[in-house]
Amino acid sequence: MAKKKIVVLTGAGISAESGISTFRDSGGLWEKYDISEVATYEAWLNNQELVIDFYNQRRKQLYDVEPNAGHYALVKLEDKYDVRIITQNVDDLHERAGSKNVMHLHGELKKVRSTVDEDLVYELDGWELKIGDKCEKGSQLRPHIVWFGEPVPMIYEAAQLTSTADLILVIGTSLNVYPAAGLVGYARQNAPIFVIDPGELSVAHIPSVNFICEKGSVGVPKLVEQLLKET
Ligand code: APR
Repeated sequence: MAKKKIVVLTGAGISAESGISTFRDSGGLWEKYDISEVATYEAWLNNQELVIDFYNQRRKQLYDVEPNAGHYALVKLEDKYDVRIITQNVDDLHERAGSKNVMHLHGELKKVRSTVDEDLVYELDGWELKIGDKCEKGSQLRPHIVWFGEPVPMIYEAAQLTSTADLILVIGTSLNVYPAAGLVGYARQNAPIFVIDPGELSVAHIPSVNFICEKGSVGVPKLVEQLLKET
């Protein structure tokens, strides 16, 4: 019999306990940095050095952090389910934990791409992108990140996937940023949705939602254990 399909939508909260700051919690990244100065295409046009440095710092940090119990529990879930992760995170902690199917909606820190041909994407060697690093067509490389105001190329595929899920888990996202936040709207009517987040998330608009108010490292392993017991 085919395995049941679980779509897992993750955000910054699942990596918080690995030591990566979230964006909108108190002390989060968007309290320290101005989005319009580091995370838009206009920012890139205004000050490439500042934008490159912002993402270099984020990338450098990846070498000092490890996946946590939340990431690892999702790997265990694959024993019994067809697990598809749709993450808004640009870190690689799901992959490093061992998850097989990970879609990065907002790009990937460890990759860079051409500024003249978006299909030219490269794995960066090490953490540092420099002014003067160029693609094979001679253009400056930029972070492979979906900035505010830019289209989200994978959103159609993500919506399709969500609409085929038997069960949906939403972990560690404030559901503030669209179109990612709208994905739950594609859930099948009878697909249960579990939201795991220690914050005061307003989830009343999500149909058939089960809200688990816990940190990822606690709530995810508990729910996974429960799901692995189900037939
Ligand atoms: N475990 C689980 N969730 C947590 C934890 C934790 N230990 N700590 C905090 N959270 C929750 C917060 O309560 C909040 O709901 O994680 C969520 C983080 O929300 P945001 O900081 O808004 O992050 P996210 O939803 O991933 O942001 C979406 O915004 O800035 C852009 O492109 C960026 O992908 C990002 C997008």
